[in-house]
Amino acid sequence: MSSIFNTPLRYPGGKGRLTRHVSKIIELNSLNDGVYIEPYAGGAGIAISLLFSEHVRSVVINDLNKSIYAFWKSILDHNIEFCDRIREVPITVDEWYKQKDVQNDSSASLLNLGFSTFYLNRVNRSGIINGGLIGGVSQAGKWKMDARFNKGNLIARIESIGRYRSRIKVCSMDAADFILSELPGISEKSLVYFDPPYCVKGGGLYENNYCGKDHKIIADLVQSNVSHNWMMTYDNHELVRRLYENRRQEIFNLHYSANKRFTGSELMIYGDSLVIPERVVASRSTAA
Ligand SMILES: C[S@@+](CC[C@H](N)C(=O)[O-])C[C@H]1O[C@@H](n2cnc3c(N)ncnc32)[C@H](O)[C@@H]1O
Repeated sequence: MSSIFNTPLRYPGGKGRLTRHVSKIIELNSLNDGVYIEPYAGGAGIAISLLFSEHVRSVVINDLNKSIYAFWKSILDHNIEFCDRIREVPITVDEWYKQKDVQNDSSASLLNLGFSTFYLNRVNRSGIINGGLIGGVSQAGKWKMDARFNKGNLIARIESIGRYRSRIKVCSMDAADFILSELPGISEKSLVYFDPPYCVKGGGLYENNYCGKDHKIIADLVQSNVSHNWMMTYDNHELVRRLYENRRQEIFNLHYSANKRFTGSELMIYGDSLVIPERVVASRSTAA
């Protein structure tokens, strides 16, 4: 299995550590050579690793967040230019301010927005786009803003993804619209992994969040409209357990760097058609 650090994005709540588990599910259900789909893709760590390890033929990455979409779309459509920009960009506080401005510029090109997203993701604490700078603006902290910006390594990851571009589709839709309009056109030989914004910890980590009724809408939609094989992760919250009470559920743990005091108690939920491993095993990791 390839590294869990194939994605160039650091992502709060990133699920790269579940790659091994997902690849096992793909094998158990004979979905090799199929399509792997993430309607809430974020850093898409699992998708990229499954592609690199040839567990699936193609992946579909959807995320409503415009900045995240711009990142994925521009590394596919402007791969060489994107990598040149990484080589040339200064890792300085002045540049950080410039890249922050791009996020608020509604006329920014897709490439500029995508690059700004990448830059801020790599220099901000926990990768949060509108979060604080590693080491602060005074850069007086133990860790400086370049701590997660190994240019050579990041360029290598992005170039590798570029080589797979014909096997990656990127969309930016609301997940509910994606389920209704995009999913039906995708081969049934596929696995859909839903990782929606969390019930309780959603606020603050991502720009696009769900409130109570959104969780219910998605639960109804997934359980009544999705005929593909699917699985889902959530925070282990009573509302979620209830919304999916007729589906198989398993509680498991992940550690998040976005809040070191919090040891995640997560919920895995499976669509009825899936053959599943005995239990969820998440790989360990310390940094990306
Ligand atoms: C829990 S994160 C996904 C993390 C991802 N599984 C990973 O490993 O990096 C949820 C993602 O859903 C996106 N999102 C939030 N609301 C959405 C919506 N209504 N439709 C599609 N994507 C949405 C957020 O931008 C965020 O990237």
